[in-house]
Amino acid sequence: MINLREIIRDAENHKVAVGHFNISDLATLKAILSAASELNLPIVIGLSEGERDFVGVRTAAALVKSYREQYNVPIYLNADHTYSLDKIKEAVEAGFDAVIFDGAKLPLDENIALTKEAVDYVRSVRPEVIIEGELGYIGTSSEVLSAVPMGAAMGENMTKPEEATRFVKETGVDMLAPAVGNIHGMFKNIPEPRLDIERIKTVRTAAGVPLVLHGGSGTSDEDFVAAIEAGISIVHINTEIRVAWRKGIEAALRENPDEVAPYKLLGAALQNVHNVVAARLRLFSRL
Ligand code: G3H
Ligand code: ZN
Repeated sequence: MINLREIIRDAENHKVAVGHFNISDLATLKAILSAASELNLPIVIGLSEGERDFVGVRTAAALVKSYREQYNVPIYLNADHTYSLDKIKEAVEAGFDAVIFDGAKLPLDENIALTKEAVDYVRSVRPEVIIEGELGYIGTSSEVLSAVPMGAAMGENMTKPEEATRFVKETGVDMLAPAVGNIHGMFKNIPEPRLDIERIKTVRTAAGVPLVLHGGSGTSDEDFVAAIEAGISIVHINTEIRVAWRKGIEAALRENPDEVAPYKLLGAALQNVHNVVAARLRLFSRL
C-alpha cells in the first residue's frame, strides 16, 4: 500500500484533499469504507481519545488492518486529538499511521514544547508515522452547537502566519491544523462561520507543511472548494456522520418497532453515513 505521506503529497499536487472521517462503531467504519471503495479513493479513519477509549486502540488497529485486505483502496488510521504523550505512545505502538498532538488550548510556548516532545518520540520509534500539531483553538466537541464555543479563535485570534512558521520550525511536525474560521461541531440555529481563505493561503506558505482542516461539518461546498485550492490537504468530518447515524437509527426504530436484531436496525444508519461520506469525498476530490 502506498504510504500516507505520498497520498498527501499527491493530494497537494492535484489540489484535492483526502477525507478524514471519525468512527466509534463498526457500522460507521463499514459505511465510510464502502463509500471510499465505491469512489476508489484513499481514506483516513480517525478516532479521538474518547472514540479510542470506546473502540479500543488495538481493536481499531486490527479492524483497519483487516479491512485493508478486503477493500481495494488505501485505508489509514489516525489517532485524532491526543492530549498526552502516553496516549500518543499507545497509538504508535498499536500501529496507527498518523497521530495528532493537540496542544491548541495551551499557551504557545507550552504547545510547542509538548508537541516537540511528541514529535521526537515518534521519530525515534516509527519515523514513518505522520505527526500533526494544532495551532489555534477551535472547540473540542463534534456535536450540534447553539453558540461558538468559549475561547474559540475567530477574527484576529485565528492562527497567525508568523506563529505557524515558528511552530513548525520548532516542533518539526509533518502537518499543521490551523484555526482559519473552522469550528468543531455544526450549528443549529446560527449560520456556519465562513472560512478565511486568504489566511489559509498565507498560513500554508508560512508553515511550509501541508494543512489539515478540522471541524469540517457544516462547511459550505463553496468554502471547501476554495480552502482546498488555497492549501488544505486533509479535511476532517465527524459531526455530520454522527447526525446521519442518529437519524438512521431513529428511522429504523420508528419503522420497525418489534425488530431487535442490531445488524438489521443498523442498516439505515450505515446507508445514511455512506451517503454523507460519498458526497464529501466527491467534493474533496472534484469528482
Ligand atoms: O477531528 C475531528 C474533526 O475536526 C471533526 O470536526 O465534527 O466539525 O466535523 P466536525
Ligand atoms: Zn478535529
